[in-house]
Amino acid sequence: MKRLAGKTALITGAARGIGRAFAEAYVREGARVAIADINLEGAQATAAALGDAALAVRLDVTEQASIDRAVAETVAEFGQIDILINNAAIFTAAPIAEITRADYDRAFDINVAGALFTLQAVARHMIDAGVGGKIINMASQAGRRGEPLVAVYCATKAAVISLTQSAGLNLIEHGINVNAIAPGVVDGDHWDGVDAFFARYEGKAPGQKKAEVGRAVPFGRMGTPDDLTGMAVFLATDEARYIVAQCYNVDGGQWMS
Ligand SMILES: NC(=O)c1ccc[n+]([C@@H]2O[C@H](COP(=O)([O-])OP(=O)(O)OC[C@H]3O[C@@H](n4cnc5c(N)ncnc54)[C@H](O)[C@@H]3O)[C@@H](O)[C@H]2O)c1
Repeated sequence: MKRLAGKTALITGAARGIGRAFAEAYVREGARVAIADINLEGAQATAAALGDAALAVRLDVTEQASIDRAVAETVAEFGQIDILINNAAIFTAAPIAEITRADYDRAFDINVAGALFTLQAVARHMIDAGVGGKIINMASQAGRRGEPLVAVYCATKAAVISLTQSAGLNLIEHGINVNAIAPGVVDGDHWDGVDAFFARYEGKAPGQKKAEVGRAVPFGRMGTPDDLTGMAVFLATDEARYIVAQCYNVDGGQWMS
């Protein structure tokens, strides 16, 4: 029996990377999935690869009208939304002396406000439908502690963990479980950007930072998006019904909490 048979999910930022791997895993487990991303072409390519179970939706999580439209399109196609993965985010880094207000506003707008108001829109739908649901927010080990060159991104992910706790406590009375996943270092486009940043600020050769962080993981290597799908599937199943407002590290042993 497929573990998400009959379920429908909306996954933000699913055109590529971790979100795409979640969409693939959900479809393998029998769910229908809305691939919601600001990159509509990427979302369409991902949806096309997944076949009839997937729907591409344009979504900019910084625009309320776009969030409302994406939720409405998904409900119109699938009938309801059982699962939301709040995955869309951007990485940003700079020494404290060089952080700009524009960069701060953009990171908080996407990573925090985007996650909150997408969660709100989907939670309202779930409350109206009266059937409960599962909401998974993508946090990060960056939300567990600060980093010298990554103050703003770390702060956004700490905020995601906090929002998960508050929303989890508020929404469980409606049968909506809100939890989070905190990955460590996961290879892909996102980390290519991180590597390029550290090449610039720490004078490292391209690929050097990735090699260093991979060696530092107790498991012995960087994660892959597929390393995270087990937790994302589990948290969306009824087996996770008694799990409320938690944030799980899936990071090869990097962080303990
Ligand atoms: N890769 C890692 O090492 C790592 C580690 C910890 C946490 N995370 C978190 O996991 C999640 C996925 O990371 P990833 O590595 O796949 O990132 P990624 O950069 O590869 O993918 C992010 C996706 O979000 C989309 N997006 C960006 N802005 C958007 C917006 N305004 N509206 C809608 N979509 C938007 C992008 O188009 C992209 O498809 C993020 O929340 C990230 O912070 C990643």
